[in-house]
Amino acid sequence: MVYPKRQILVTSALPYANGPIHIGHLVEYIQTDIWVRFQKLRGHDCYYVCADDAHGTPIMLRAQKEGIEAAELIARMGKEHLRDFTDFGVAFDNYGSTDSQENRELVTQIYRRLQQGGHISTRRIQQAYDPVKNMFLPDRFIRGTCPRCGAPDQYGDSCEVCGATYSPTELRNPVSAISGATPVQKESEHYFFQLGNFADALRIWLFPDITQPRHVQAEVANKLDEWFASGLQDWDISRDIPYFGFEIPDAPGKYFYVWVDAPVGYMASFRQLCQRVGLDFDRFWAADAGTELYHFIGKDILYFHALFWPAMLEGAGFRKPTAIFAHGFLTVNGQKMSKSRGTFINARTYLDHLNPEYLRYYFANKLGPHVEDIDLNLDDFIARVNSDLVGKYVNIASRAAGLLHRHFSGVISGPEPDRAGTASVLDGITGSALAASERISDAYDERRFGAAVREIMTLADAFNQWWDQRRPWELSKRFEAPAAPGDNADLHAICSTALEGFRILTLYLKPVLPELAANAERFLNLPPQNWADLATALRAGHRIHAYQHLATRVDPKQVQAMLDHSKESLTMTTPTIPAAATQTEAIKPEITIDDFARVDLRVARIVKAGYVDGADKLLQLTVDLGEGRHRNIFAGIRSAYAPADLEGRLTVVVANLAARKMKFGVSEGMVLAAGPGNKDLWILSPDSGAQPGMRIK
Ligand code: 2FM
Ligand code: ZN
Repeated sequence: MVYPKRQILVTSALPYANGPIHIGHLVEYIQTDIWVRFQKLRGHDCYYVCADDAHGTPIMLRAQKEGIEAAELIARMGKEHLRDFTDFGVAFDNYGSTDSQENRELVTQIYRRLQQGGHISTRRIQQAYDPVKNMFLPDRFIRGTCPRCGAPDQYGDSCEVCGATYSPTELRNPVSAISGATPVQKESEHYFFQLGNFADALRIWLFPDITQPRHVQAEVANKLDEWFASGLQDWDISRDIPYFGFEIPDAPGKYFYVWVDAPVGYMASFRQLCQRVGLDFDRFWAADAGTELYHFIGKDILYFHALFWPAMLEGAGFRKPTAIFAHGFLTVNGQKMSKSRGTFINARTYLDHLNPEYLRYYFANKLGPHVEDIDLNLDDFIARVNSDLVGKYVNIASRAAGLLHRHFSGVISGPEPDRAGTASVLDGITGSALAASERISDAYDERRFGAAVREIMTLADAFNQWWDQRRPWELSKRFEAPAAPGDNADLHAICSTALEGFRILTLYLKPVLPELAANAERFLNLPPQNWADLATALRAGHRIHAYQHLATRVDPKQVQAMLDHSKESLTMTTPTIPAAATQTEAIKPEITIDDFARVDLRVARIVKAGYVDGADKLLQLTVDLGEGRHRNIFAGIRSAYAPADLEGRLTVVVANLAARKMKFGVSEGMVLAAGPGNKDLWILSPDSGAQPGMRIK
């Protein structure tokens, strides 16, 4: 098989250094790794680099909270991330950090070139400022009451209860999530990248004419078209001290926003690889580079990768990506990953319970070239792994190797002869397996992994059916006294052919299941195989090793244990707003006793409690206010209570709050609760003598 050798550089998005890798992240890393492994198996020069995304406010604050230097935190997280990836078989050629010398130099170089090209401007803007911590507050660090639905404790930019988006200035009763202080507005000078200067270049790159290759998926181009229509705004690339990042040259106290140095981190990680193994950096990054560059990313960060990043590269005289491959999000059992359901599963938690290659296999089944969300249905996961990998693929090897060892000392014969003795490997069943190779390789190359895997499993089915039709177990029983002279030779050929089929299927599955494939190669007594080895059948006289277990069935109990473990580990590690944030919350303006008397507080019994589909924070309660008065209330207390904890309990509700229409229904009151949030949240509990309907005075 001859195909031109390609020079390919591939990246996955850089994970933030302030949190662990979870299975949602893994969709992308597994997708990229499968593609990279496939290209390498084909003999191309393909390099896969990544890094921890180490800068920004959340990382700075987390280090402060842990009482350590940011450098120590990012070093620890970087190691944990790499260990998780490695254990999932994700094999980077280099894994760096955006907080590296190489990155600092490249960011500076790019910034200087943009500045020289007249693409940087400055102006003063107003932003929320924490007067206690003396720092500007990113939107996510402002909490308050949603201006639309009145839900308390929402982010500065969006409400998780009703889905509204707004500016932090619209939030009611805003507080800094860091100190609990009320933010003030403060002005400072910011640096901007003039994205609009690149409108023409971007338009040509994003919407090439029909004869030119596309750089983004068709559905992405449509989305970008909308962004174009609403105008390309200047991009604010600076943040004020204190900030963990790189200081902007000649701008004391101003730092590059994390999203400036993050994509440059792709280049910096590759530069480290170049230095380590002697590759030519410019060959991949010069404006006229003839090599290929691909970024695998999630759909949520398209704006950065398809607009800012190519514009930065263009402005700084570097090449632009060959293509950006965006994927969708992961759901589990059809719903958003949820901490309370235990489906927010960290990579390490999964690894503690299940074989990582099973997740690779499952994701491969679901992955295609489009920006679609994919669902991990856990029952389907168990069924598919057990039926495909154990029941179909590995089954071929275990049955054939058993007989080959019993009767032929594990030595392969020639290909299965037919009764006329004329068959060759190419026109037998292995021939049809080999004939699928182009279809399978095209599917891998085009990121149609689901199609590739389905094709491979169809072949596995064919081998199993063929085996059953041949009934080798009957020949085996009559081995000492064969019914016909050719029977033993037939048996030998059937086993050998099945093992040759297994070898071909192993190679086809190798990008998805590298570890299983390596074990299978060892069992077949073969050196690591490449795609070009497809055509080299097991030789007559080759001895394979005794079959050793290659894959174990998934027991549903393992999956349940993983979910239980996830629930526990996440409730223990969920970051909470520091208690100080609510305890030091400013006391609100004074009210009179008459004002207070207008609030009708009643003892209520919670008669029914349940989860609300799609709302991670809410429980739906039916409360009894006495005298047959029942109310439906949506309460944001799910992080702290399960429905079973609440049913039958007395609590206190605001009984005369106007009914509010929320995303999930109408809420007719409010349950009183106190605490900083998450697990630490307590509803009020009247003493035992209280009765539903009693008024609190
Ligand atoms: O969204 C994220 O998780 C970012 N850390 C991705 C950065 S990708 C690249 F630009 F560095
Ligand atoms: Zn809201």
